Amino acid sequence: MYMVSLDFNNLDKNLIRAWLQEVDPQKLNYLWEKADEIRQKYVGDDIWLRGLVEISNHCVRSCAYCGISKCAPVVEKYRMSEDEILTAVKQAADYGFGTVVLQSGEDMGLTATRITEIIRSIKSKTGLAITLSLGERSVGDLEDWRKAGADRYLLRFETSDVELYKQIHPNTGRQSDRFVQLELMRQMGYEIGTGVMVGIPGQTWGSLANDIWLFRKYGMDMIGLGPYLENEGTPLAGELGKKLKNSATADQVPNDDLTTLKVLALTRILCPNINIPATTALATINPEKGRSHALQRGANVVMPNLTPHKYRTLYQIYPGKAGLHETAEFSREEIERQIISLGRTIGRGAGTSSHFKQHCH
Ligand code: 5AD
Repeated sequence: MYMVSLDFNNLDKNLIRAWLQEVDPQKLNYLWEKADEIRQKYVGDDIWLRGLVEISNHCVRSCAYCGISKCAPVVEKYRMSEDEILTAVKQAADYGFGTVVLQSGEDMGLTATRITEIIRSIKSKTGLAITLSLGERSVGDLEDWRKAGADRYLLRFETSDVELYKQIHPNTGRQSDRFVQLELMRQMGYEIGTGVMVGIPGQTWGSLANDIWLFRKYGMDMIGLGPYLENEGTPLAGELGKKLKNSATADQVPNDDLTTLKVLALTRILCPNINIPATTALATINPEKGRSHALQRGANVVMPNLTPHKYRTLYQIYPGKAGLHETAEFSREEIERQIISLGRTIGRGAGTSSHFKQHCH
């Protein structure tokens, strides 16, 4: 077993793993302080707000953890109309947000043409930066959207453990290689975001350390991190989860907020100038402190939910999602209050990742 080193200049996979397993409060305080210091030095005090619009809960995949996947208990399906999407996007612009994030399940009903038209309307009507998070799509679709003006794409690789990835992403006849897609999108000029869930049944300390190492190795521009949250009725909440947990034995990573915050802090230290959101999953597991702890341990982005109320409850990728019953207005005000009380400022403009600016333009 490795000991943590207080010198962060030589973080290798073994030391990352030692930090992940560290329990000494004093040492952890040192980790939090270091991550906050690096965040301040490289990306400053601004916190960027991105308006999240969950445009469809249709999905062709069977991801074993997800509440809107084909193997989850049936939920009523919706797909927002272009008008509904534009209304939500306009709200983001009115609130002064610089970016809108369009997220959905992998929905082939959202055709390349339909999304292209939506991107064009958003650009011409608001000029906002556009982040897409629409799953694994064809090279042609991704190229069309980039040409139409999409700026960024989010696709988490979830885990770098190839065996575990396969177990939780059963073959649906569609190929799945998220690393290949991430690299392709980088070449197309997208600013790219990825990330993992923390505490997936079967996820070991070693594999999580490797995930963090890869964030740096592949030079990602944004990293989203959240605890795995069990969804009743999904395969991972049942036999599959039990089997995977048993296989990891004592090396199983817990799905708690402390571990997620350690991953977040280490990610900031290893990738100083990227964007890191304080995710809704963290706010869900710790409603009182999840978001502020993340913002004080390396995060610099928040994504307030602007999905119309009638659809929000149907986009439960995990249970108890924070902000489910709040109005967009309330969650925005609450988040802005929180930012100010932390002594931070609200970013104005697109909030492009400094890492992306340095490497690509
Ligand atoms: N618990 C936590 N996060 C989840 N996601 C999907 N299902 C769950 C869950 N049960 C995350 C995945 C996905 C992102 C949009 O939401 O990491 O990439």
